[in-house]
Amino acid sequence: MKLPYAEPYKTKMVEYIRPSTVEQRKEWIKEANYNLFNLTSEKVFIDLLTDSGTGAMSDIQWAEMMKGDESYAGSQSFLKLRDTVKRLTGFDYFLPTHQGRAAENVLFSVLVKKDDIIPGNSHFDTTKGHIEFREATTCDCTIDEAFDTSVYHPFKGNVNIEKLEEILKNTPEDKIPFVIITVTCNSAGGQPVSIENIKQVSEICKKYNKPLYFDAARFAENAYFIKIREDKYKDKNIKEIVKEMLSYADGMTMSAKKDGLVNMGGFIALRDEEIYKKATVFNIMFEGFITYGGLNGRDMAAMAVGLDEATEFDYLETRVEQVAFLGKRLVEYGIPVQKPFGGHAIFLDANKFVPTIPRDEYRAQALAIELYIRGGVRSVEIGTILADRDPFTHKNRYPELELVRLAIPRRTYSLNHMRYIAAVLKNIYDSRDEAKRGYTIIDEAPIMRHFTVKLKKLI
Ligand code: F0G
Repeated sequence: MKLPYAEPYKTKMVEYIRPSTVEQRKEWIKEANYNLFNLTSEKVFIDLLTDSGTGAMSDIQWAEMMKGDESYAGSQSFLKLRDTVKRLTGFDYFLPTHQGRAAENVLFSVLVKKDDIIPGNSHFDTTKGHIEFREATTCDCTIDEAFDTSVYHPFKGNVNIEKLEEILKNTPEDKIPFVIITVTCNSAGGQPVSIENIKQVSEICKKYNKPLYFDAARFAENAYFIKIREDKYKDKNIKEIVKEMLSYADGMTMSAKKDGLVNMGGFIALRDEEIYKKATVFNIMFEGFITYGGLNGRDMAAMAVGLDEATEFDYLETRVEQVAFLGKRLVEYGIPVQKPFGGHAIFLDANKFVPTIPRDEYRAQALAIELYIRGGVRSVEIGTILADRDPFTHKNRYPELELVRLAIPRRTYSLNHMRYIAAVLKNIYDSRDEAKRGYTIIDEAPIMRHFTVKLKKLI
């Protein structure tokens, strides 16, 4: 009998989570203006809002924290982290930041100017936000398969090479400062990008003389998918794959709250000294001195260990298989989800789940609210609310997919929690025909509105 995967760790400490009733949750979500971000954590039973900074650190990471060097300049913890990043990524230049979007802010302050266009594969919302904030725009070149949740493609995060080439060919030279690939591609459903595709993108970038950057928040999960789905890489270890993957890039922004296995942290890693020098100035202005970048010494110490742990096969197998365990249960129940399953999350296809709710009544948000009310499970809408309004027309942008993301924190919940979540969703699915109305917006911010949006229930 083939042995199943088993977690390469055991529990040393537990944190109690709080059950509640349907009646309580109905009241709480109303008080929260139907925005799941407004719920305080004691009102949530299982929190799948994000896999960002919500994972469990190992005993070795905690031990390393005690050795954190809190020197303002030249911290030993900084040196340890810098050396780890260099060893794992191959990039010579390194700047710590307090999280991923801070890395974007610093790097884009150097690279992005008004009216620029930045092609990529479904840019994450903070990436897009930092680009649009500079009055530049993004161009989504993700392959078409990514937008059909029922089509199987092993690398749905891939870039459509023809589309990328077309934009590079037809745009004035000085308008495209770089190309960015997000690995894994969060907005397309936690889908990986193959090395073959990365290589092709890199060749085109070279042809048009454009730097290639990675948004590498989930680079280790991407490497795991390459190992198990890209035949040529099946005998390579994760660290070797990571090295090769990143060898095609000129630099990366990193949210270490994902594959850095820490609660807070990020960084920029670069090949080019000139860009590094320029970024240093912004890092000092926005984040702090270059040897701490908004982080405690102990945070950098924990991150150095976390990056090594996250790039081990056994950890990644457990991680990705736990997500798939939930996905398989939902498929058994006939629930429409993005396939193949993502690395960090399962994405419910709200267009298929609740087509009875009109699109302009935010059907994915309505489904996420129902999941909270029925089971105390907090998820997040990845749909029209997240897509924000068009900055020029101020109309809603309706993305192709209306998704509800069930993001699984790393090393945190058990398989029983996955069974519970699946059961709640089955009950909702069985009564889906009753869902007729959604929500309307009563208050919203001009950018990244999903965090603070206020909604009213329509009846
Ligand atoms: N890039 C990707 C692909 C991300 O998923 C995130 C964050 C960021 C950049 C920004 O990093 O949060 O450290 O500033 N994603 C979180 C999520 C918020 O829930 O997916 P950050």
